[in-house]
Amino acid sequence: MKVLVATSKPFAPVAIEGIKKVTDAAGYELALLEKYTDKAELLSAVSDADALIVRSDKVDAEVFDAAKKLKIVVRAGAGFDNLDLDAASAHHVVAMNTPGQNANAVAELVMGLLVYAVRNFYNGKSGSELMGKKLGLLAYGNVGRNVARIAKGFGMEVYAFDAFCPAEAIKNTGVTPVSSRDELFETCDIVSLHIPATTETIKSINADVVGKMKKGSILINTARKEVIDENSLLKLLAEREDLKYVTDIMPDANDEFAKFEGRYFSTPKKMGAQTAEANINAGVAAANQIVGYLKDGITKFQLNK
Ligand code: 3PG
Repeated sequence: MKVLVATSKPFAPVAIEGIKKVTDAAGYELALLEKYTDKAELLSAVSDADALIVRSDKVDAEVFDAAKKLKIVVRAGAGFDNLDLDAASAHHVVAMNTPGQNANAVAELVMGLLVYAVRNFYNGKSGSELMGKKLGLLAYGNVGRNVARIAKGFGMEVYAFDAFCPAEAIKNTGVTPVSSRDELFETCDIVSLHIPATTETIKSINADVVGKMKKGSILINTARKEVIDENSLLKLLAEREDLKYVTDIMPDANDEFAKFEGRYFSTPKKMGAQTAEANINAGVAAANQIVGYLKDGITKFQLNK
């Protein structure tokens, strides 16, 4: 069996070592296609792969067409908007993700970006503190829960809204549930986005909802750029000089946003899951899930059921 790791944004070398240990123990061959820039390289590399590990790399019908022997693809990470699940099913390929494995890395970055934002991007001027501020989490999955855990250590009041998580379950973790998305934006000083990119959420974060935030609020996005209605948010930032937007997901209209100097920051490249630990956790989990499926038919975390 041949396992291909195809990552345009590579894992830390230590994660590759961990993956190799798993594939070696299973008696599988491991092939690497790292830092590739051309889709043709991926199409050629997958042609004889039985299993594929990717990160945000797009795996569409063309890739499945080229991957004649492919049985399983695992997205080493949480968001699987880069996998065409219908095409996977049409090609009888099992698709999985590794939920939770990189959540702490993203959560730590959220807090780092927030400190940076409230301290005026370290420009030397007097800023403010996170302690006592109301933090709103839009979606309460693995990342949201980790942000809540760390934010409580900062002395923040944490609120959450998740259409799919019962209020009681949120409450049981010491976080205050609110009854709607609007209420979250109205209540909190900072709102952190943790929703996936789906047909329902794409462009759902617009001026209507962000405009509900109080004076001096911060919107932080470490989820997906697609959930933002960029034109609408640009208009709002022009009208509301008190608002800040910080993101780990550079908008398409980054140059337009960059005009809001002192109120806007984007990492140059998505950094949320870029830690050795997250790479090891997600990469090794992906390798184990491949072995578990190919040897024992384990389909936990299958997405295309
Ligand atoms: C995820 O969905 O797991 C994160 O956005 C990380 O994505 P990455 O592997 O492309 O860094």
